[in-house]
Amino acid sequence: MKTFYIETFGCQMNAHDSEKVIGTLMQQGYQQVATPEDAGLVLYNTCSIRDKAEQKVFSRLQQFKRAGAGKVFGVLGCVAQQEGENIFDRAPHVSLVCGSASYTKLPELLVQIENGERRVTGLNLDTEDTFETPFTRRDNPHRAYLTVMEGCDKSCAYCVVPFTRGPERSRTGASILEEVRQLASHGYTEIQLLGQNVNSYRDPSSGGLDFAGLLREVAAVPGLRRVRFTTSHPRDFGKEIIDSMDENPVLCNHVHLPVQSGSDHVLKRMLRHYTRDEYMRRIEWMKQSGRNIAITTDMIVGFPGESDADFQQTLDLVDEVEYDSMFSFKYSPRPNTSALTLSDPVPEEEKGRRLTILQEKQRAIQIRRNADLVGKVEEVMVEGYNHGTGQWIGRTSQHRTLNFTTTAQLPEGAYLDVRVTRAGPNSLAGEAVSQIQ
Ligand code: SAH
Ligand code: SF4
Ligand code: F3S
Repeated sequence: MKTFYIETFGCQMNAHDSEKVIGTLMQQGYQQVATPEDAGLVLYNTCSIRDKAEQKVFSRLQQFKRAGAGKVFGVLGCVAQQEGENIFDRAPHVSLVCGSASYTKLPELLVQIENGERRVTGLNLDTEDTFETPFTRRDNPHRAYLTVMEGCDKSCAYCVVPFTRGPERSRTGASILEEVRQLASHGYTEIQLLGQNVNSYRDPSSGGLDFAGLLREVAAVPGLRRVRFTTSHPRDFGKEIIDSMDENPVLCNHVHLPVQSGSDHVLKRMLRHYTRDEYMRRIEWMKQSGRNIAITTDMIVGFPGESDADFQQTLDLVDEVEYDSMFSFKYSPRPNTSALTLSDPVPEEEKGRRLTILQEKQRAIQIRRNADLVGKVEEVMVEGYNHGTGQWIGRTSQHRTLNFTTTAQLPEGAYLDVRVTRAGPNSLAGEAVSQIQ
């Protein structure tokens, strides 16, 4: 029997790619197993956004340098694309190196491996294709990821994604809507539309939809209760996106809008192509909306040349926006990126200090914002049960975790109303106040 094991690192795009890869492999007669020890084919779907993420795969491969005899090892995803055939030098027991822009070729590459080829690669980036397959094995029976666009044409100075995922390319609206309808008919009630810059979506067919149009169409599919999307790029974030959310409650009230820095000087050096004012205009649209939209972001501290004054502007912006949640990172120099040529006089310890200050500020904001929700009733989707705490795990439309108690037995994927009774920095707790709806 042909068996495989897959471990996935990185973003939701990678998680969903793995669901498609798993389906593709099963279609080829492979069976998924839970440990690398039990598998004939061991795959790592990798991330290279920061150095630490990249190192993970090499430490995994190192573990099997000797013990892996008789197994086939494959590296997929962003490290595969970035390092290409160098991976064979760093880990000679690897046989397959394939980037996400070449997954349509996976069945072919697998046959070559079965035929005993020692080294096969899928590294072409020059593609118009998106990776679609009817065999996707979704992890969750209620909430489905769905890729609407792939790649990135933005070339931010610090970022590997344009090199690892190739040029921006969108699926046709017709194929997206067909998949959404199918998912709804299979009982999925939540759809998460994915793309590195999801709002740069442009239907490639003539007269096709823009992103706001796509949101409207997807949200109108019968059976869906929640539609989310990630990640949005501020430059392409038009007011119509907020208008479509205002019009349709199926579109969840959450927008993830990475800002990266509050300083115009840094944004310019990052090549983000928007100013702080332009970003803040988008925040205003959201705050003026009738929807109570949760706003979350990504932030990089210690980008080359970030001065104390620049960092202070980031802190001021965070005070002004009051994000509901934030992912913040210390700048990590990455191969091929243009930021490598910028001079960087800021010492590492100073960058670490700034990250701590930012994270402490954000934590205080979250404690405050979450506390404001105590006493309110929120609809949650049930994600599971925590035997340790005796609480059900729920997710609100704003994407907050709301753990709650009830005497009823709940199926995963159910929706019900919960009153918030307590709040912490990262989650809420409460009591169910309705039956399943
Ligand atoms: N396409 C999205 C971001 C995708 S990468 C956007 O443009 O907003 C996810 C996050 O990783 C980024 O928002 C950024 O905050 C962080 N990141 C990317 N490259 C990085 C680097 N070299 N060092 C530190 N953080 C980085
Ligand atoms: Fe990276 Fe910038 Fe593209 Fe986002 S927009 S994926 S940060 S290059
Ligand atoms: Fe990582 Fe690639 Fe996603 S670098 S964050 S897995 S696009």
